[in-house]
Amino acid sequence: MAILRICKYGEKILRKKVPWIDYTHLKRKLPRILSDMWETMASASGVGLAAPQVGLPLRLVIVDVKPSGRSSRIVLINPELVEGSGSGLGEEGCLSLPGFFTKVRRHLKVRVQALDETGVPIELAAEGLLARAVQHELDHLDGKLIIDRLPLRRRQKARAVLRKLSKTWN
Ligand code: NI
Repeated sequence: MAILRICKYGEKILRKKVPWIDYTHLKRKLPRILSDMWETMASASGVGLAAPQVGLPLRLVIVDVKPSGRSSRIVLINPELVEGSGSGLGEEGCLSLPGFFTKVRRHLKVRVQALDETGVPIELAAEGLLARAVQHELDHLDGKLIIDRLPLRRRQKARAVLRKLSKTWN
């Protein structure tokens, strides 16, 4: 296993809509990719990580919001949001924008279809923190970051904050 470098705000890959995965093609490499992603996420104390954040242009995300304090790992390959309901603000950060936190509006409940790590189609129904984390990670696959979800005025302020913060990143 290896801890991978996490790409930061300003790097191009974070702005790309990444392509669908051919599961059969990726199958052999997937266990290694996933174990590296899990290790990277844990070492950064994150609750979710999308493949583009570690430089991999793949529609793949991992999430573990540790419900009731216990690990509950979710792997989503080629995830698609099929339903979203409700709307609410909640505080979010992002491993690609270290030190930056902001309130983001998201659906309160979502349903997502995807393949799991064995290539089996699954449907995930999520609410609360899990629903928020899943929506955040899915955004990464389309090149979207939390700053893009802010109303104009807050987005402009956030850009200034990020410009300063980015000088402290490596
Ligand atoms: Ni993020």
